[in-house]
Amino acid sequence: MPRLDDLTRPPGRPARLLYGGDWNPEQWPEETWAEDLRLMRRAGVTTVTLGVFSWARLEPEPGAREFGWLDRLMDLTRAHGIDVVLATPTASPPPWLGRRHPETLPRDEDGRTEWWGSRQHFAHSSEAYRAHAAAITEDLAARYAGHPALVMWHINNEYCTYDWGDEAARTFRGWLRDRYGTLDALNTTWGTDFWSQRYASWDEILPPRRAHYLRNPSHVLDFRRYTSDLLLECYRAERDIVRKHTPHLPVTTNFMPFWSGQDGWAWAAEEDVVSVDVYPDPADPRAGAHENAFVADLTRAEAGGRPWMVMEQAAGAVNWRTVNRPKPEGLNRLWTLQAVARGADAVHFFQWRPSRQGAEKFHSGMIGHSGARGRGYRETVRIGADLARLGPRVAGSRVPGPGIALLHDWHSWWAGRHEGALSGHLDQGDLVRTWHRALWEAGLPVTLAHPHHDLAAHPLVVLPHLYLLDDTAVANLERYVAGGGRLVCGFFTGVADPHDRIRPGGMDARLRALLGIDRIDEWWPLDPDGPDARADCGTFRGTLWSEELVPAPGAEILASYRGGPLDGRPAVLRHGRTRYLSTLPEPRALRTLLAEAAHEAGIHPVVTGLPDGVEAVRRGDLLFLLHHGRDPVTVRVPGRHRDLLTGATVDDTVTLDRFGAAVLEEHP
Ligand code: GLA
Repeated sequence: MPRLDDLTRPPGRPARLLYGGDWNPEQWPEETWAEDLRLMRRAGVTTVTLGVFSWARLEPEPGAREFGWLDRLMDLTRAHGIDVVLATPTASPPPWLGRRHPETLPRDEDGRTEWWGSRQHFAHSSEAYRAHAAAITEDLAARYAGHPALVMWHINNEYCTYDWGDEAARTFRGWLRDRYGTLDALNTTWGTDFWSQRYASWDEILPPRRAHYLRNPSHVLDFRRYTSDLLLECYRAERDIVRKHTPHLPVTTNFMPFWSGQDGWAWAAEEDVVSVDVYPDPADPRAGAHENAFVADLTRAEAGGRPWMVMEQAAGAVNWRTVNRPKPEGLNRLWTLQAVARGADAVHFFQWRPSRQGAEKFHSGMIGHSGARGRGYRETVRIGADLARLGPRVAGSRVPGPGIALLHDWHSWWAGRHEGALSGHLDQGDLVRTWHRALWEAGLPVTLAHPHHDLAAHPLVVLPHLYLLDDTAVANLERYVAGGGRLVCGFFTGVADPHDRIRPGGMDARLRALLGIDRIDEWWPLDPDGPDARADCGTFRGTLWSEELVPAPGAEILASYRGGPLDGRPAVLRHGRTRYLSTLPEPRALRTLLAEAAHEAGIHPVVTGLPDGVEAVRRGDLLFLLHHGRDPVTVRVPGRHRDLLTGATVDDTVTLDRFGAAVLEEHP
C-alpha cells in the first residue's frame, strides 16, 4: 500500500519533509508561472497541489478536454524539481453541469437550491454528477499517470455537502433498506409510533427536511450517517479510478478539522495518507496552538500513528472570520514546527499566492500581495530552510506512544446534537477539546482513539462524554478495565444505544457496574448564563452539567455537591481503577484531576517544570520545544544537546524568544 513514506523517504535519496501548497496558476498569466516556480525553489518548496478547482478549465463544455495548459504546467513544475499533488477537480462542477442537469445541485433542508457561482454545489447522489466526475477523473488519471511530476492524488476537496433534495431522498431510502431490510424494522428502530410517524411505504421516507417542530432523532442520526457514507462513496469512486492508473501512488482527501459531517475514523481507513486542513485563529496564539495540537493528535490517530499531512493551513490571515488577523512574525513557523513535532511529514498551505480576484482575494498566501520582498515570503523561505534541515532526521519517525487515549466518536456527537436535548450548551466536540486542552496544558502525551480500538496498551483512557455507546464499545471498556486499565469517564455517557434509544437507569447497566453507579435519577444541566452556572463541589466548581446519582456499594465518593438542588450528592466517584465525573470541573481543576489520574497510571509530562507557554513534544529521539508566549523564557534540559534548527550546542538550558522553537537531539 503506498504511503507518505514513499515520498519522504525515497530509496537512495535523503529523507525529506514535504513543503508547499495549493497553487492555482490558471488564475494568472502563463508568463508568471516560471517566476513563481523560481520563488518556490528559493523557499525550499518540494510539492504543489494543482487543479483543485480546475474543472471548468479542463472541461469547458460537456465532454471537451483542455489538457494543454496542465501539460505545460506539469512539465514546467517538473523542470523546476518540484513534485505535484494532483487534485481531481470535482469539488466545483462547471456551470454547464448545473444548467444541463439541475438535479446535480444540492438542496438545503428548506428545499432551496444551492446554485453554481461558488463551489461545492454538487449533489452527492446525483447520477449525472457522479458520471461526469468519474469521466473527468478517468481522463485526468490516464493522462498524467506516467508523468514524472505526479507523486500523490488529492481527491475532491473538503467533502462537506449535505443534500436534502430528491436525489438524496432516493439514495437515502436505498441506504435505509440496506440497513433495516424491512419497513417494520425501521419503524420499530426509529420509534415511529411517537407522534404518528409510522411509515407505510418506503417512498414516504424523506431526508429530515424542515418540519413544524422537533424531528425524529433516530431519523436525523441515520441521515448524518448516510451523508458521511454517501460522500465516502464519492471519494471511493474517484480513488478507485486513480488507483487503477497509478497503484503505486498514495491517495488522500483533505479533512476539515473535526468537522462533524464525516466519520473521520471510517474515512481515514480508506486513505493512503491522512490529510487535514487546520486554521486556528492567530488572534489568540495560545488557543490556536492548542487547536493545532488537538487536530494533530486526532489526525495522527486517524493515520494509525503513521506520519500525516497538513494539506492546508494559512500563512497569515484567512478571510472567513468576522475579523481576520494575520499571523504575527514567527507564528507561522512555530505552528508549522508544531505540526511536524506531532507527527506531520508534510506541511502544505492554502495557498501559494493569493488570488487577485474572486472570493478569497483577502486570504493570505505563502507569498503575499506584497510579493517576494514582503515579510510573508521571507518567513516562507525561513520555514523552508528549517524543514529542509529537519527532514533527514525527522521524516518517517513516530511520536512515541501509547500515552493517554482520549475517546471520540462521531456517531455519538451526531446523536448528542439533537434539537430536543436537555442542554443546548452540551456538545461533545467542545468537551473533547476541553479535556484535550487540560491534558495539553499539563504537558501529557495523548492521542485520540475510537471506543472500539484496542486500548490495552494505554495506561490511561479518558472519556469526556459519549452520549451514545454501542455494545461493542461498552464491552471494550469492560475488557480494558478488567485487564488492568484505568479509566476516567465524564458525565452523560452511555445514555443511548446506537439507535438513540435511552438505556434505562440513566446509563448502560454494564457501564454503571464498572463505574460504581447504582443509577442516575436525574440529569441536572447547569446553565452557563444563569445563576446556577457553577456547582460547588468542595475543592472545585463544576460547570455545564451535574447529576443526581446514587452510588453503588463499593464506590468511593471523592467529591460531593454542596448547596443547591444536589446538596450532599456525589459529584466525583472512584470505583476500582475508574473515576466518574458527573460535572465538568473548571479548567484548572480538570487539569489537576487528569494529571493525578495520569500520575497514578505512570504517565508523566514529556518534560517537567516547563515555563508557562512552552510545549514539549517527543518525536522519534528528538525533543521539540515550542514557545507559544511572547516573553523570552529559559528551559532546563539537563545534559548536552544539539539544536537541529541552529546547529548550536545546548548545555543544560535553552532560551526561547517570542514564538521560538528548538529541536534537540542528544549530543553525539
Ligand atoms: C478551505 C478550502 C480552500 C480555501 C480555504 C480558505 O480549507 O479547502 O480551498 O477556501 O478553506 O481558508
